[in-house]
Amino acid sequence: MVLRDLRETDREALAATLRRTDGFRQDDVEVALELIDERLEKGERSEYQFIVAAEGDDLLGYACYGPIPLTESSFDLYWIVVAPRHQRKGVGRALMRRVEESAVRQGGRRVYIDTSSGDAYVDTRAFYTAAGYSEVARFPDFYREGEAKLVYSRDLSAGRG
Ligand SMILES: CC(C)(COP(=O)(O)OP(=O)(O)OC[C@H]1O[C@@H](n2cnc3c(N)ncnc32)[C@H](O)[C@@H]1OP(=O)(O)O)[C@@H](O)C(=O)NCCC(=O)NCCS
Repeated sequence: MVLRDLRETDREALAATLRRTDGFRQDDVEVALELIDERLEKGERSEYQFIVAAEGDDLLGYACYGPIPLTESSFDLYWIVVAPRHQRKGVGRALMRRVEESAVRQGGRRVYIDTSSGDAYVDTRAFYTAAGYSEVARFPDFYREGEAKLVYSRDLSAGRG
């Protein structure tokens, strides 16, 4: 597996991966594709940075992240996806580590991730916890009645615990 930058030719394969991923609705996929398109259009001028995990022509997954505007050293992990048939093999962990290394190189001290308290996200939350993230904020009834928005974070200078 290699971890590399986003390429123009990745767009269709990543769109297909997003569509196959349980838990993403059509509008989630559209937002994810907008970020990909912005990066492909603006290149380094885009605030959205990408790391793609690939094995030859096979795209295993990707992460999208970037510095949070108006903060001194905070980064947002906007999106992390591993194709269903490649899940649970360490690809997500490798992407997360690369995101954190990149953030540190750019002066980042904390990474923030938004997620949901919903049952559909139990595995996603387990993945964030395993990666050393913990809940730092909760917005009750944010997505719908009974489904909160959770903000997870990790201090990049601390160990994974
Ligand atoms: C969440 C996601 C990115 C994890 O990627 P992954 O490559 O499958 O995860 P890894 O194999 O690197 O897992 C690392 C650790 O996280 C935890 N973990 C990952 N998936 C888990 C699951 N389904 N249930 C419980 N724990 C899980 C485990 O501790 C795992 O270590 P282990 O396999 O040695 O036990 C992937 O499952 C995914 O794309 N899910 C759908 C999309 C999504 O929810 N994205 C996040 C919102 S944008």
